[in-house]
Amino acid sequence: MSQRTLVLLKPDAVRRGLVGEIIGRIERKANWTISALELRTLDRGTLEQHYAEHVGRDFYEPLMQFMSSGPIVALVVEGERVIEGVRALAGPTDPISAAPGSIRGDFGTITRENLIHASDSEESAQREIKIFFPGLA
Ligand code: CMP
Repeated sequence: MSQRTLVLLKPDAVRRGLVGEIIGRIERKANWTISALELRTLDRGTLEQHYAEHVGRDFYEPLMQFMSSGPIVALVVEGERVIEGVRALAGPTDPISAAPGSIRGDFGTITRENLIHASDSEESAQREIKIFFPGLA
């Protein structure tokens, strides 16, 4: 089942020079393609749209600060079961619980600075791709 997902390499990943490492892991999976990719610094409006479901949570403001603290890399990845697949590569939200071998398990320690975002469902993917790449059909 071919799908599309939105992936963000968060400011910590860019600052630490892990963009190539993380994108390399995505590229090495068979039958997936990168169909959009951009380095960009996010403004408050874009972040408010992206994180609308987290408004009011105690981590919301620090998350907004962190996500606008430097450039991110946004990409759309397309292919066989890519939504589930990128989330498996990423590992769970808390990097200390993430298994070694996953991106968060290998490189992260802090829940907020967990390196990568990946859409969690087809509905989220559609919504998020529209926010970051409105020109993509
Ligand atoms: P992500 O799942 O991509 O989207 C929501 C983000 O909020 C999550 O990654 C973390 O970066 C952050 N986050 C989620 N839960 C917490 C938490 N308990 N404390 C701090 N940050 C969090």
